[in-house]
Amino acid sequence: MAQVKRRKVPFILLAVFLVTAVLVGGYYSQQSAGASESQPVDYSHKVHIDAGMECLYCHSNAGRSPVAGVPSVQKCIGCHQTIATDNADVQLVTEYWNNNEPIPWERVNKQPDFVYFSHQPHVISGLACEECHGDIGEMDLAAPMEKMDMGWCLDCHEQQHEDIAPHLWDCLVCHK
Ligand code: HEC
Ligand code: HEC
Ligand code: HEC
Ligand code: HEC
Ligand code: HEC
Repeated sequence: MAQVKRRKVPFILLAVFLVTAVLVGGYYSQQSAGASESQPVDYSHKVHIDAGMECLYCHSNAGRSPVAGVPSVQKCIGCHQTIATDNADVQLVTEYWNNNEPIPWERVNKQPDFVYFSHQPHVISGLACEECHGDIGEMDLAAPMEKMDMGWCLDCHEQQHEDIAPHLWDCLVCHK
């Protein structure tokens, strides 16, 4: 009897732990899906990367400014005046174009305002987009892949780039 009891307690604790882990895990994965759960146009990265496009073809500012930027409707129309014109979402894009309106894309990754991040030095140093954003080229809906918190920034600065790390520990490099 006593033996059974001793076993029961840890098992119940384990069960409680597992349920908690699943709930917490679910909460965080739900959170990290964030704003990308819907977009005004059903745009798929996978379709366009499979068709042979490079990241910088649409996010050309990433190599020369803080912000990577999202392509203009004009860029889309350059192809979609003729490609897949019978697709409902392509017709939506055409509608934005005809109305002279930008597509109101929902932001997926967003740092708090007190953080300074610039794409330029990162992209110039040769880091692939995928190192920070995951395999966007395999996604239909762009999702945030990393928990982009301070520890994450510091880990990479420290581990992968010891030579440049010291000045990157200065709080004011990232907080201005
Ligand atoms: C044909 C143009 C096009 C190409 C090529 C493209 N993107 Fe995008 N990207 C977009 C558009 C449009 C959005 C906004 C809609 C969305 O979030 O899916 C976007 C959004 C994103 C976002 C989310 C931005 C945010 O709000 O945080 C990331 C990250 C991203 N792209 C990375 C990439 C990477 C990495 C590649 C190469 C593997 C790539 N993109 C190639 C058009 C493109
Ligand atoms: C360089 C040419 C090119 C550009 C620029 C381009 N597309 Fe496409 N797009 C394609 C091709 C190719 C396909 C695949 C067509 C097919 O499968 O029939 C496609 C497919 C699509 C589809 C159809 C849905 C799907 O999943 O197949 C949508 C919607 C779409 N693109 C939206 C956009 C948006 C929004 C932009 C601008 C941010 C954009 N495209 C920029 C070439 C382009
Ligand atoms: C060192 C990590 C890192 C690399 C490498 C990186 N990004 Fe980002 N990206 C971020 C962070 C962090 C944010 C959120 C920035 C913010 O909110 O100020 C972001 C935001 C974005 C956004 C939305 C906001 C914006 O700047 O327009 C797009 C689009 C994007 N990245 C595309 C790309 C593409 C394309 C590449 C490769 C050419 C790339 N990123 C490389 C970390 C990175
Ligand atoms: C995957 C690796 C990686 C991640 C993640 C990363 N960085 Fe960096 N970061 C670098 C490298 C490499 C450099 C050095 C570029 C150079 O100057 O050669 C750098 C440089 C910088 C600089 C200095 C730019 C300059 O002008 O000297 C700032 C600011 C910065 N990172 C901020 C951030 C922030 C904020 C985050 C998190 C949101 C972040 N980084 C995440 C690799 C990374
Ligand atoms: C490489 C970039 C980087 C450096 C260097 C850096 N931080 Fe941060 N810090 C961030 C990012 C990104 C965030 C926002 C994400 C988060 O809350 O973790 C942040 C958030 C914070 C926050 C708010 C935490 C919260 O929970 O809201 C404080 C406080 C802070 N940093 C203090 C510091 C101090 C003090 C230093 C110097 C010892 C420092 N940081 C150096 C990138 C950096």
